[in-house]
Amino acid sequence: MSATDHGFEVEIASTGQVIEIPAGQSVLHTLMFEGFDIPFACEEGVCGTCLTGVKGGEIDHRDQYLTPEEQSSQTQFLPCCSRAKSARLVLDL
Ligand code: FES
Repeated sequence: MSATDHGFEVEIASTGQVIEIPAGQSVLHTLMFEGFDIPFACEEGVCGTCLTGVKGGEIDHRDQYLTPEEQSSQTQFLPCCSRAKSARLVLDL
């Protein structure tokens, strides 16, 4: 967790469900706690296993897996480590 961490919301595109991501807690862990089955391995943003599509919002990429071009496309992110710059991300789930 860094000083720039803050809470935000994720919206599940398929259902419209909105889930609060607290500061200091990963999107991956929060979604798992809510019952989503997202595959993961490293939890450090290097393996790419947890890759999840993003349909809206601005991502705060913190991984070392996606290329700069993939990161700037703002269409996918690694929820084990990456967060949001916007108040809400819409996830392709
Ligand atoms: S679990 Fe490895 S990048 Fe997220």
